[in-house]
Amino acid sequence: MALFKPKPNVSVANAQLKIPDHIAIIMDGNGRWAKRRLMPRAAGHKTGMNTVKKIATAASDLGVKVLTLYAFSTENWSRPNDEVNFLMQLPVDFFSEFVPDLIKNNIRVQIIGNIDGLPQSTRKAVQNAIVQTAQGSGMILNFALNYGGQIEIVEATKKLAQQVADGKISPDDINGDLFSQALQTASLGELAAPDLMIRTSGELRLSNFMPYQAAYAELYFTNVLWPDFTADDLLQAVTAFTLRDRRFGGLNDKYESES
Ligand code: FPP
Repeated sequence: MALFKPKPNVSVANAQLKIPDHIAIIMDGNGRWAKRRLMPRAAGHKTGMNTVKKIATAASDLGVKVLTLYAFSTENWSRPNDEVNFLMQLPVDFFSEFVPDLIKNNIRVQIIGNIDGLPQSTRKAVQNAIVQTAQGSGMILNFALNYGGQIEIVEATKKLAQQVADGKISPDDINGDLFSQALQTASLGELAAPDLMIRTSGELRLSNFMPYQAAYAELYFTNVLWPDFTADDLLQAVTAFTLRDRRFGGLNDKYESES
């Protein structure tokens, strides 16, 4: 976590803001946003994609190191075909428009989820974006696409079980570090665990999003629908995070000094 260094295009009242290293967002409410406007759900997703652009830039300007966005879950395949097809086209549109800005902002794209299960055009767009932004030394923009937290844990367990069966490790070697290395967030190393988890639209659940990594995440729920979510809303979430007392199961300084 870093203290906030203001950049010209971000206005903050409090220079002592604590910036989470890793923010994860469940981008919810696209459908309701569209419904309230008597528009098709796709219009909500399209506007939601534009919000991704704004929030990725704002997070990068704040000094966030990893921004993980839940773009498509393993459960989202059960939506009507038209909607699934539209959602699968969004990364193609997003990267074709936004990669130059990502490069300019030094942002690097990564992905978690089962990329092999994506349609070829989506997979190619994502793979190209990863290659095109690979030199970025700033924020990692990590898309969770065709991602499910439970299947991630199951797959990690299988991987480790196979290593035991092959005689490469013994069951006693399995610890938190080894398990983390078997998860899809392995390449994020020490940054794999979100410090702050945001969900928009008023729903109060985590919906299979990073259940292992988010064990100690601070949770922030807002009624704002994702297409309406702004850089100011992000700043409010970070302000709330700044005021949280994170103890990770221990005691804070106040109690420690009393003992
Ligand atoms: C949940 O809202 C949102 C999704 C399932 C899709 C999220 C995708 C985006 C915001 C765009 C992603 C952009 C890129 C670049 C990949 P919902 O449809 O469940 O909304 P509802 O609960 O109001 O119906």
